[in-house]
Amino acid sequence: MRLSERSSHVEQSHIRSMTRACNAINGINMAQGVCDLEVPREVIEGAYAAMNEGINIYTPTEGLPRLRSAIATKMKQFYEVEIAPEQVLVSDGATGAFYTACMALLNPLDEVILFEPYYGYHRSTLTSLGAVPTYVRLEAPEWKLDMEALEAVVTPKTRAMVICNPANPSGKVYTRTELEMIGLFAEKHDLIVFADEMYEHFLYGDAVHITALSIPSLKERCVVLSGFSKVFSITGWRLGYAIAPVSVIEAMAQLNDLIYVCAPAPLQIGAAVGLERLGDDYYTELARIHEHKRDLFCDALRDAGLTPSIPMGAYYVMTDVSRVAGNDDFEKAMAILERTGVASVPGRAFYHDDAGKNMVRFCYSKPLSVLEEAAERIRRL
Ligand SMILES: Cc1ncc(COP(=O)(O)O)c(C=O)c1O
Repeated sequence: MRLSERSSHVEQSHIRSMTRACNAINGINMAQGVCDLEVPREVIEGAYAAMNEGINIYTPTEGLPRLRSAIATKMKQFYEVEIAPEQVLVSDGATGAFYTACMALLNPLDEVILFEPYYGYHRSTLTSLGAVPTYVRLEAPEWKLDMEALEAVVTPKTRAMVICNPANPSGKVYTRTELEMIGLFAEKHDLIVFADEMYEHFLYGDAVHITALSIPSLKERCVVLSGFSKVFSITGWRLGYAIAPVSVIEAMAQLNDLIYVCAPAPLQIGAAVGLERLGDDYYTELARIHEHKRDLFCDALRDAGLTPSIPMGAYYVMTDVSRVAGNDDFEKAMAILERTGVASVPGRAFYHDDAGKNMVRFCYSKPLSVLEEAAERIRRL
């Protein structure tokens, strides 16, 4: 059968081939981002109790009121941001929330600015809907915002931009000043800002998370995306959300209904219970554990003569691998896998051109013993 043009826009071939090659040698897969800490008891028990209590049928497509309220309360508690529960749409992961938001707000041929290196799903979601990504490169190791480059890429067709904060794959955490500059820029060109804040709790050193919703010029023009996959280690539960003005949420809800109907009912209660019961110490510990893992693995990369860009947030590290044999990122990633048994993602997965040719990305959200073994092997590279 002839496939649609759309299906040719969504391949992740190199990530898949790395995973296959890694599995074939029973290696350590640091290519894929699966947060593997234990799920908090509160979250599991909340979902289990909900199932027993009969919360097993469709929910409103926007999500259960209890979860929408818990998300609104969380925004107040963490960021002093006041939102109404009606501004929240619960979807099938942040992935579903982003897809729904793009469906509701973009037309084919609308241009959307992505910062490079980007998260592949952002690009694929846009292209699958006929939107046209344009690119502004941030340079390692600082990934500093370049306002001139941003201005240079705007055209009359530019409708939106995406910021990933903290960023996958670079680990960049945007400062308030940077977000304010983005806010003024978005205002000047009348752009929507999709702010993917999936890793909001994964912060290192003195990094702080500034949500786009706390920037006055962004408040009415941003769609914030986040979810529970990473923070509660429930990537398979498929629970995420968007926060946007009510009129946008209403439009998104129609599309969410069409695609997903609703997010899993009892699991929504599990996430709500997690938000309601887990204290600050849970989130601090999560960041502390990942900071330790970041340091452990980045030290090993440095010892191996590679040049990691030290992430300030999220749990990935982009590393320069110029010194590894191979003609490009894929060959270099394969060489690392062959020599150490550790899989990474070839850098071009995060760029629209060859800029990632000398880079790979490792995900260090692995059990400590596995990470220690991976670090030991990388040192021998
Ligand atoms: C930046 C970013 N956004 C969203 C997601 C996916 O989130 P979810 O599991 O809620 O769909 C990921 C997962 O890797 C991610 O890295």
